[in-house]
Amino acid sequence: MNIGLLGFGVVGRGVYEITGARADMQVTKVLCLEDISLPDAQAVKNFDEILNDDTIDTVVEAMGGLHPAYEFVRAALEAGKNVVTSNKALVCTFYDELLPLAERKGLKFRSTAAVGGGIGWLSELERARRVQKLTQVGGIMNGTCNYILDNMTRLGLNYDDVLKQAQKLGYAEANPSTDVDGIDTWHKVILSANIAFGISLDKQTVPVAGIRNIQAKDVENFKAHGLVCKLISTAKCLGDTYSAYVQPTLVKEGEPEAAVPMNYNLITFLGDTSERMSFFGQGAGRYPTAYNVVQDLVDVLAGKGFYAPYGTKAAADNSEKLTWYVRGNWTEEAAETWDGAVVTKPVSVTQMHAWLKENPDAFIAAIC
Ligand SMILES: NC(=O)c1ccc[n+]([C@@H]2O[C@H](COP(=O)([O-])OP(=O)(O)OC[C@H]3O[C@@H](n4cnc5c(N)ncnc54)[C@H](OP(=O)(O)O)[C@@H]3O)[C@@H](O)[C@H]2O)c1
Repeated sequence: MNIGLLGFGVVGRGVYEITGARADMQVTKVLCLEDISLPDAQAVKNFDEILNDDTIDTVVEAMGGLHPAYEFVRAALEAGKNVVTSNKALVCTFYDELLPLAERKGLKFRSTAAVGGGIGWLSELERARRVQKLTQVGGIMNGTCNYILDNMTRLGLNYDDVLKQAQKLGYAEANPSTDVDGIDTWHKVILSANIAFGISLDKQTVPVAGIRNIQAKDVENFKAHGLVCKLISTAKCLGDTYSAYVQPTLVKEGEPEAAVPMNYNLITFLGDTSERMSFFGQGAGRYPTAYNVVQDLVDVLAGKGFYAPYGTKAAADNSEKLTWYVRGNWTEEAAETWDGAVVTKPVSVTQMHAWLKENPDAFIAAIC
């Protein structure tokens, strides 16, 4: 296998190193905007040098972002090259374009590292759905949020202080919005649901609430009631309908999610045969992530394509009613009052997310 590698950052360098020790695949060209010289590959600055190279059969996209990643991946597939990517935003956003294109061309397209980094979650879903009906997927899918929430819970620190610490340690970006506003988790759960349930979920019907507004006094409230806050994604298959959402969620101390430390992930599926299966591990980092990119390359060599066939379009129905912790201007009748906050009577996911849009300074968390 001859590989054209797009991007030479955290993941790209890892892929280059791991493949360099293998006999069955080699990176022959690397797209990199900086001047670099590599012992075993040619560094190029123009993607066309990879696209028009007939000796390259597989493209690894590790640049991130939507553009030009989408144009490059699309062109690679059009040109008959297999594609492996670690880019969840790309696969989620352009699912309806890229997956049918790969299927039409009979090409291999994989993205295991895109969800759960080193965990291999999408490959597990691929195996799980072969022998059973999956009814639910989701969990803790973002290490940055888990790092922040874990440190606030264990050390009683403020959100801003932990965020700064996370940025210093490289666990959070300078602009942390994609992580703390839940967008990264949103991409991951939509992609997971598409594969688990064999659908193409309408992204606009999947609401997301992040952790940006959580305060130390909220965490004190949760502790006083034996609860721990985590950013949790949920997607369910309810017969012929689906629900899907991302939101801060209060889990009981003693539940597996409550114990997930630092920047780790814990992702779970429920199947009608296997019942609950959870996967714990590093959701990011050079080698854990590059490890799963290389796993995909081995799968491509073995003739494996995407994890599930492209499915029918589906909208999420989030009429499910939950009780919520709300700190903000909640004017409806509450079931309980906690220090500076309320616990609501049952309110649908759709209704609560609509309320949050009107009250963007509030903090909400679903109570499990
Ligand atoms: N890091 C992780 O642990 C992890 C885990 C799971 C998934 N992922 C995903 O993997 C992808 C890559 O992440 P990363 O952490 O490796 O990012 P990164 O360290 O920022 O590396 C991306 C590299 O691509 C380069 N690049 C961007 N646009 C380019 C272009 N048009 N042509 C050539 N090179 C270009 C960047 O160069 P400049 O720096 O010059 O812009 C950078 O060197 C993302 O989609 C991310 O979500 C990452």
